[in-house]
Amino acid sequence: MGKEEKNIKFLFFRKSDHKRYVRMLAEINRKVLQSPVAPLQSKYNLTKHVTSEVLKSAWLEGINHGLVDQATEVCENIFQLVQKQAGLHSLLKQLKEMNPQEYDHSFLVAFFSCSLAKQFDWNSTVTTQALTMASMFHDIGLTKLDQNIRGKKRDDLTTDEMTHYQQHSQFSIELLEKNNTISRTILQIIAQHHECIDGTGYPHRLKNNKILMLSQVLIFVNEFADTMIDENLSPINSLKKILTNPLIFKKHNALIVEKFSHIFIDPDVLSKKRAG
Ligand SMILES: [Fe+2]
Ligand SMILES: [Fe+2]
Repeated sequence: MGKEEKNIKFLFFRKSDHKRYVRMLAEINRKVLQSPVAPLQSKYNLTKHVTSEVLKSAWLEGINHGLVDQATEVCENIFQLVQKQAGLHSLLKQLKEMNPQEYDHSFLVAFFSCSLAKQFDWNSTVTTQALTMASMFHDIGLTKLDQNIRGKKRDDLTTDEMTHYQQHSQFSIELLEKNNTISRTILQIIAQHHECIDGTGYPHRLKNNKILMLSQVLIFVNEFADTMIDENLSPINSLKKILTNPLIFKKHNALIVEKFSHIFIDPDVLSKKRAG
């Protein structure tokens, strides 16, 4: 994108632009692979995943172009940080070996949480990076669940098994709290990633502003990414499904949902449609 294009507020990603992103992501890959720290095969696996498996599905729908650049840059910085931290890198590797779908989910959530944070006035580099890191590691505690539970779909869990499953937020904290890169804010965001503003979440059934705003962002994006992957929907169709289901919608902060829609939809176009 040239400098003269920076003032464009909304520019939608077309299928014809896909090649450009493939080139850009290849460049990210190249940079990460130059890092002298982690084993080459591990680096390759991590970056290959990011460049080809997760993001390709997201690129094919209308997404605010400038945001994609910004979110990709933040995610790139976080990947590089993870590469330098053997402990963090190894946790992600364990998650991938245990369940590749959960690993995909973590990267998808990191990318869209970051894109969503960029919609708010309160976003700063430090805040956005904390949210992105929290998003990438929020479900790492799934690796500590009993093996028979890990292999089951959530709908098939017994009451006791569900109680155990719901401890994964706490397990994530336990796996991360001794790592110097993981701040207290990151741990707090992760601890609340299954709460809901209507008080139906877990583990503490927190309501409204008892849940951190950054956690509320992660909570929503987590739902969005689950809908997208579980039901094999495109990003825009996943968002539509949430917007048209009052039972899901009421669990989330309406402002967050509205801001999220701006990642995809030009508000000017929407208001013209409403007026028409
Ligand atoms: Fe979770
Ligand atoms: Fe999750």
